[in-house]
Amino acid sequence: MTAAALSLDVQDGIAIITIDLPNESVNKFSAAVIAEFDAMMTTIEGNSAVKAAVLISGKPDVFIAGADIDAFLEFKSAKDAEAASSSGQRMMSRLERSRAPVVAAIHGACLGAGLETALACAYRIASDHPKTVLALPETQLGLIPGAGGTQRLPKVVGLQVALDMILTAKNVRAKKALQSGLVDELVHPSILRSVAIQRAKALAAGTLRGHSEKARGVMGTLFEGNPVGRAIVFRQARALTLKKSRGAYPALLAAIDAMQAGYEGTAEQGFATEARLFGEMAATAVSRELIFLFFATTSLKKDTGVGEGSPAPLPVTQLGILGTGFMGAGIAAVAAMQGIPVRFKDMQHEQVGRGLAAVRAVLQERLTKKQITRQQFDDQLSLVSGTIEYTGFGNVPLVIEAVFEDLAVKHQVLAEIAKVLPPSAIFASNTSTIPIAQVADGSPRPDRVIGMHFFSPVQKMPLLEVIATRRTAPEVIATTVAFGRKLGKTVIVVNDAPGFYVNRILAPYINEAGRMLDEGVAIEAIDRAMLDFGFPVGPITLLDEVGLDIAGKSGAIMAKAFGDRLQPSASLGQVLASGRLGRKSKKGFYRYDASGKKGGVDESVYSLLPTGTRRTELAKEEIQRRCSLAMVNEAARCLEEHTVRSPRDGDIGAVFGIGFPPFRGGPFRHVDAVGAAEIVRQLAALNAEHHGRFDPCALLVQMAREGQRFYPATGKPV
Ligand code: NAI
Repeated sequence: MTAAALSLDVQDGIAIITIDLPNESVNKFSAAVIAEFDAMMTTIEGNSAVKAAVLISGKPDVFIAGADIDAFLEFKSAKDAEAASSSGQRMMSRLERSRAPVVAAIHGACLGAGLETALACAYRIASDHPKTVLALPETQLGLIPGAGGTQRLPKVVGLQVALDMILTAKNVRAKKALQSGLVDELVHPSILRSVAIQRAKALAAGTLRGHSEKARGVMGTLFEGNPVGRAIVFRQARALTLKKSRGAYPALLAAIDAMQAGYEGTAEQGFATEARLFGEMAATAVSRELIFLFFATTSLKKDTGVGEGSPAPLPVTQLGILGTGFMGAGIAAVAAMQGIPVRFKDMQHEQVGRGLAAVRAVLQERLTKKQITRQQFDDQLSLVSGTIEYTGFGNVPLVIEAVFEDLAVKHQVLAEIAKVLPPSAIFASNTSTIPIAQVADGSPRPDRVIGMHFFSPVQKMPLLEVIATRRTAPEVIATTVAFGRKLGKTVIVVNDAPGFYVNRILAPYINEAGRMLDEGVAIEAIDRAMLDFGFPVGPITLLDEVGLDIAGKSGAIMAKAFGDRLQPSASLGQVLASGRLGRKSKKGFYRYDASGKKGGVDESVYSLLPTGTRRTELAKEEIQRRCSLAMVNEAARCLEEHTVRSPRDGDIGAVFGIGFPPFRGGPFRHVDAVGAAEIVRQLAALNAEHHGRFDPCALLVQMAREGQRFYPATGKPV
């Protein structure tokens, strides 16, 4: 038996239960913790001196982070998972029915089974603190809340708020939680414990009741209070969910079913439906892949980027940014959000002014959405100071350049700033296409040069590619990785090759979509097929978004580096030559109105394509196979050439950088799911038809021959 997670202290008739999992940074539920809880409840109920209880965490900033996801890997079948859910439900019911009413004292993350625990308590009191967030994020793992969440949450916050919370998995902050009735009271964290004890005493004395249920809005009550209204709410939720998810995420519909069962049948039937559906969802491939992504992201967070015995990252207490344009401003805003002072340089005051205004706009959006307070807005904005000279760079440990995409300009700023920076300073380039080794050639300290490839818009895109050259010092890699993480990014370290990793695997995918245009396939047919495959936008829409000029330039670089295999389509070239740049010029493959809003396909674009207005039908599956396998094959090539360091990094890069369908786990997971032999068979068949573009890479061929996988078939994937 391991050390106990729960401890009990009875004072003045109040049992204080502290949850503090030994040797773990967070509290999480496992079968062992549930058993302990059960025993604890028996002790409390058996002690007539105990009149009420308080449940509080011993961790600094976490109440309970949820279920132990490692344990999910041990489910052998849907029945196993269903049994685990039932056992969680029993514990929550016990808490709910306890003779001694329990107050949940919540500070920090209160997620998943943690919130389900709180929902079963008689009273919920939370700290009014930015670290306090409440959520039921199970659908993000392809599951549904399985410890009573689908049954209790609607009763507490109303059906519509509950649907929103469960289907979006979103975090609810303390103030919002109070407004919706999710918690009964907010207090300063320093008095959380003492107020919770007072409330427990009042509950015991019968002078206080949880008042969550009164918080529902009038619309909510009118609509949800009767079966007809509820039926409408459920119907709309299903329709909207199906439309948004294109049927790819079954847990969303299962969560709605479980909630509806709770209204239509007895309480027991509601709980039984929840447990059964939890079991069914836990056995889906979708859930397996989403859980893989969870583990992959977690393991990446612990990766220093330089392996065992790596040097410690240097502290980056200030950031320099050269070029206050689109990307420079985005990076500056993200740094300011993390409290990092930024020195911001461009050529002229006008550009600096525009850059500062762009930073302000990003922060303003956060203020408008109430993600930050006015005070935080002012503080963050004041961290960014602009200049047209190199003053204020004398102590800057890390500079990111985001000047024009031109090697001569990059070399010029590198030479200029080298005279000002401390010798140990790191120079990072945000170039999207220039090899970092070439940038480093212009530096007196090439070992201090590295690539930091951010994606646009910087404040929204989660991925950062860090590009190391053969000369980059390990300490520089470690520092850059740690700093990228501090900016809130998911960081993968890749080697210096044209297109790095993300743009490299994007190229054949976009090219393949373009080739279909060359053949006469309809624009909407291509985009719809890839949306159905699970990408967030179709490839032709993506071209319009990225800009045809940028795509053309990057396509040419890839073709130069990799030859015919990555030759861009004729369609892209011809549409670009006509002067259409996509969304930014309000003219591309799609129509845009004066405000920039996207409309339908611009039929006039067809006259610019090789086949003119003549259309060819191509089966959806064929479109999907060609686009996706072009990307998968290239990803495997990147691994074979060590451009990407592991299948894990490759999957994370594709999902977070491009939007490769998360429920497929990423290109490498996709190969494992389909089987390398089958992938190679499909590639070979395509290759016979398409002149060498689908030549299966050596790594895949070898894996197919030897029956290998990228990840272990069972147990923890990474
Ligand atoms: P931009 O044109 O918006 O900004 C470039 C800025 O650099 C301008 O404000 C310009 O005045 C300034 N600049 C030029 N020469 C300078 C000098 N000698 N000293 C100081 N400032 C100078 O360009 P954007 O889009 O921000 O791109 C910047 C870099 O980021 C490029 O290398 C680009 O390839 C890369 N990148 C761009 C992405 C995008 O989506 N736009 C995505 C990822 C990387």
